[in-house]
Amino acid sequence: MPQDSRTVIAIDGPSGSGKSSTSKGVASRLGLAYLDTGAMYRAAAWLVRERGTDPQDRAAVAELVAGAELAISTSPTQPQIRIEGHDVTEAIRDPEISATVSNVATNQDVRRSLIARQRAIIAASPTGIVVEGRDITTVVAPDADLRILLVADPQARVTRRHAELGDRVDEAAVTDQVLRRDRDDSTVAAFTEAAEGVTVVDSTHLDLPQVIATICRLATEGPTSTAEPTTQEQP
Ligand code: DC
Repeated sequence: MPQDSRTVIAIDGPSGSGKSSTSKGVASRLGLAYLDTGAMYRAAAWLVRERGTDPQDRAAVAELVAGAELAISTSPTQPQIRIEGHDVTEAIRDPEISATVSNVATNQDVRRSLIARQRAIIAASPTGIVVEGRDITTVVAPDADLRILLVADPQARVTRRHAELGDRVDEAAVTDQVLRRDRDDSTVAAFTEAAEGVTVVDSTHLDLPQVIATICRLATEGPTSTAEPTTQEQP
């Protein structure tokens, strides 16, 4: 991968695959910016709730989001997102938003306007950027220098989410949440199968530092130079 130009790394993966922690870790280690596109969909869902817009009224939702002022930090260590002047960095992680965001994210007109903003942020990044989200390798940045699909067995993803959430929820509820999100989000992109040229990294048996190291190696050496048993490039 050229070291003298901007590097764009695109990372997709299902809920609980470790996509966010991995993307932030890779960006920090390589000195790149970081864009959490899921946070943009979450902020849109927050605004729909805050304004009391009927989520089923797809045209009204799309118009609201297209006209909204949205500012997102691209620091991997200091995430911040504001919409219409409200700092929603914490609020977008509420379970209520997690439960309703798929509705907004499957609105094709919302997607069109957020994808345009995402592409503008990527293009404006001077050093290069790690971008994460469900359609990044295929739709938003299909020309990225490195495209990764981060996967993990459903049981491993449930265990990780459960550890993150602690005793607040039982494992059955987490299983339900992870599998339901897989189902809901599968209407956005077939994120369990890698598109052509996308390298699969299976994190089932790797800890976070190992996953970050694997992707940093792929970024500096190129996808074809790795003989990692946990990765494979799709033909
Ligand atoms: O990764 P996340 O859980 O923060 O994503 C929030 C929601 O947005 C989830 O339903 C997936 C969706 N999403 C999407 O459709 N496209 C993206 N590029 C990123 C997230």
